[in-house]
Amino acid sequence: MTDLSEKIKGFVFNLDGVIVDTAKYHYIAWRRLADEMGVDFPPEQHDKLRSLSRMESLEKILEWGGLYMTEAEKLHWADVKNNWYQGLIANMKPEEVLPGVLPFLDEVRNSGGRTALSSASRNAWAVLKSTRLESYFDVVLDGSAARKAKPHPECFLLAAASLQLAPAECIVFDDAVLGVRAARIGGFHIVGIGKPEHLPDAELVIPGFTDCRLSDILESVEKMATVG
Ligand code: G1P
Repeated sequence: MTDLSEKIKGFVFNLDGVIVDTAKYHYIAWRRLADEMGVDFPPEQHDKLRSLSRMESLEKILEWGGLYMTEAEKLHWADVKNNWYQGLIANMKPEEVLPGVLPFLDEVRNSGGRTALSSASRNAWAVLKSTRLESYFDVVLDGSAARKAKPHPECFLLAAASLQLAPAECIVFDDAVLGVRAARIGGFHIVGIGKPEHLPDAELVIPGFTDCRLSDILESVEKMATVG
């Protein structure tokens, strides 16, 4: 590992849209719900649900449709959506892990890096199990771990604490504006996954993990840390 590895020892990954493309399944299930409620929900609108919890996501859809629900109704419909979603992920296969993720995780672990998964989804374990990813992470924190929603950095701070590292010793990998912002507020290094124009708060943005080398990531983050 490069010099920076003396400073960076932890790698914290978001799940949906970073490790696996479960975002498409969330969209199918939320869209079905929106259709039942007569709420217009085009695909680009789904980006606004990334990083949100199940209940926050439902509340956004209700807000867009100008709809009101009692707490009991919200719980009921959140459950309905979750059943649809679970039906979609039940048959996920290891092949659905996004390109380049496994070689990158292997490289991190072989270099002595510690890995954490931090997801707003309460289905994170189910996804890890069906894609056989459980053993790649030293720590897994799902949507039940943090009480405060992003952009509060609680979920990432808990991950760093579980790895027994300081935020400045960790890189967060996230594809969502709110996640990147939370990592920045928490004092982490941040690699955004997606397009640079969508993630201005990230130190470095990559399109995904295809051909992604650990040494390149560490070098770029080191450069940005020096500049910043
Ligand atoms: C939740 C939300 C979903 C959001 C996802 C982010 O997952 O339902 O809208 O995009 O987290 O990871 P759930 O706990 O329902 O799996």
